[in-house]
Amino acid sequence: MKKIGVLTSGGDAPGMNAAIRAVVRYGIFAGMEVVGIERGYAGLLEGKFVPMSMRSVSDIIQRGGTILRTARCLEFKTKEGQDAGVAQLKKEGIEGLIVIGGDGSFMGAKAVSERGFPAIGIPGTIDNDLAYTDYTLGFDTACNTILDAINKIRDTMSSHERVSIVEVMGRHCGDLALYAGLGGGAEVIIVPEHKIDIERIVERLRASKERGKLSGIVVLAEGAGKADDVAEQIKARSNLSIRTTVLGHLQRGGAPSMKDRYLGTCWGVHAVKLLEKGIGNRIVGIRNNQIYDMDIVEGCAMKKKFDLDLYNMAGIVAR
Ligand code: ADP
Ligand code: F6P
Repeated sequence: MKKIGVLTSGGDAPGMNAAIRAVVRYGIFAGMEVVGIERGYAGLLEGKFVPMSMRSVSDIIQRGGTILRTARCLEFKTKEGQDAGVAQLKKEGIEGLIVIGGDGSFMGAKAVSERGFPAIGIPGTIDNDLAYTDYTLGFDTACNTILDAINKIRDTMSSHERVSIVEVMGRHCGDLALYAGLGGGAEVIIVPEHKIDIERIVERLRASKERGKLSGIVVLAEGAGKADDVAEQIKARSNLSIRTTVLGHLQRGGAPSMKDRYLGTCWGVHAVKLLEKGIGNRIVGIRNNQIYDMDIVEGCAMKKKFDLDLYNMAGIVAR
């Protein structure tokens, strides 16, 4: 392969820039031309092709977001849009495509692959909602951002003897809440995968207060409800003093952690190596600390399993 393209799609995630940098630099090292496609599949349809050089990816490994920018593009969900996208790639002389994004973006990469055009997916989403890989790019950084917030919230909650509901992102996946809740010592973690009723939540907060805790932190995954609703329900059943914080998009930004720089770099290089060998239709990931790749159709069809043991463990050690 002499010319490859790279795009970022869906929600941005810290570490995407590290992956772009690795794709560009390793691609050039391997003797390829690398073309950046701006604004995801929307930019592909609009022909937003930018030739990349060693210097176009300087000074980005430490930055959150994506220098190629990203978009959500409804047209690419249609057969016509997908045909037009592959035609654009061919017209530009591109022979392989690397897509950095989440499960939606991988559906687009799958559609490109189904048209006989080699495409490789790199998992980039703070949600960690992909079953075939232990981690996705941005998850670690987002967890650390949430932990930083929890630490600060804890200071003021302890001073006032209050409970805080901290709502975090994750779409339908509870991993951000689970890992940040575990790391932040949350007294209660609420996730969509494992329902817990409001009486049980109140009981846990009361019991922890009785055991002498000055504050309570409830980490709520957005897929399991809204912070204000949960706060109202707790207020209706107790005299606990409650505050809420919705962390929102600050979870998506910031300098990527070492782990996200490492994964972005390894996956970027791995993706180019696959294309170099003429291999397409794969998604890269990490399992048991090994970088690996698997079939895009098989990987996208896998159902994510929630780690209930970890969830229970987090509950036991936060008493
Ligand atoms: P993420 O990749 O983070 O899951 P989205 O679900 O928003 O984010 O998907 C990003 C983009 O991927 C969509 O805007 C669309 O362009 C493309 N996409 C999503 N689903 C499909 C699909 N079923 N077929 C083709 N392209 C899709
Ligand atoms: O998929 C990443 C994510 O940040 C989710 O956690 C969240 O639900 C969603 O994107 C927010 O999307 P938007 O950026 O469109 O508000």
